[in-house]
Amino acid sequence: MKIAIIGAGTMGSGIAQVVITANHDAIMVSESAKSVAAGLERVKAGFEKAISKGKMTQEQRDSYLSHLKTTSSMNDIKEVDIVIEAVPEDLMTKRVVLEKVENAVRDDTIIATNTSSISIDALAKTLQIPERFLGLHFFNPAPVMKVIEVVRGKKTSSVVMEKARKFGEGLGKVAVEVNDFPGFISNRILMVYLNESINALDQGVATKEAIDTIAKLGFNHPMGPLELADFIGLDVCKDIMNAIYLQTNDPKFKPAALLEKLVGEGRLGRKSSKGFYDY
Ligand code: CAA
Repeated sequence: MKIAIIGAGTMGSGIAQVVITANHDAIMVSESAKSVAAGLERVKAGFEKAISKGKMTQEQRDSYLSHLKTTSSMNDIKEVDIVIEAVPEDLMTKRVVLEKVENAVRDDTIIATNTSSISIDALAKTLQIPERFLGLHFFNPAPVMKVIEVVRGKKTSSVVMEKARKFGEGLGKVAVEVNDFPGFISNRILMVYLNESINALDQGVATKEAIDTIAKLGFNHPMGPLELADFIGLDVCKDIMNAIYLQTNDPKFKPAALLEKLVGEGRLGRKSSKGFYDY
């Protein structure tokens, strides 16, 4: 199949890597040539990791990469079968992009969003054919995490849900169907856990190392909650919590004061070299 990925950030490039590794043709779209080039470098770095672990040969990498095109123009996605939008987590930004996508593709192209917290129905509102629209929520790092949330909007057709589920399984993922509620399942659960860990740190219940060690050794999680928040990006966590809080008005989703403070100071986690930890 031909797949377009809109956005070349961490998620867009990770999804592109997954898609070409599953032997599809992919086109990664981003407005600026610079961000598309950076996205391509991230895909190459992901493959390097796999090669260094002996899980992929250089020939395989070259073959996969030959199926990945990059562009800054929506005109180049006319013939794709599925579009996966992975632009920043903002309703208006996504709506503008999705409208452009809809104008560029065939009427039978499936359009998916990788949103982690914005309502599928809210995004579908300005689409002409909302029946072909759904959520395909990948986890970070997309090439490693084994599950995707397949999110059904009120208007998503059953045929589209089934095709998307099969596509997800063809990517080597377990595709789990969920309904369109704020935060779906993943972030509805995860963000409360992360937020409460941050509150516990702020209230002096334990040090960050102690909190993370308990989660790693006590729950067998690969990362503790504060390490994971740094990995996801503290600004991203805050935005997701705010999006869920706005939709639910439930105070348990209100970003912790310490999270707000760190983001205000530009401590965004790994990507800014400082968060709960220094990198
Ligand atoms: N491409 C291909 N393979 C990759 C890769 C990439 N980009 N990045 C890592 N890998 C592979 C490595 O080759 C390695 O393979 P082996 O186990 O076969 O050796 C494996 O993945 C682990 O990688 P590393 O050895 O480099 O690092 P690690 O063992 O420290 O694991 C981690 C890193 C996978 C990130 C692990 O710490 C982890 O699973 N952390 C939790 C991540 C998580 O919870 N993600 C979900 C975030 S929430 C989300 O995404 C939803 C949202 O909406 C916010």
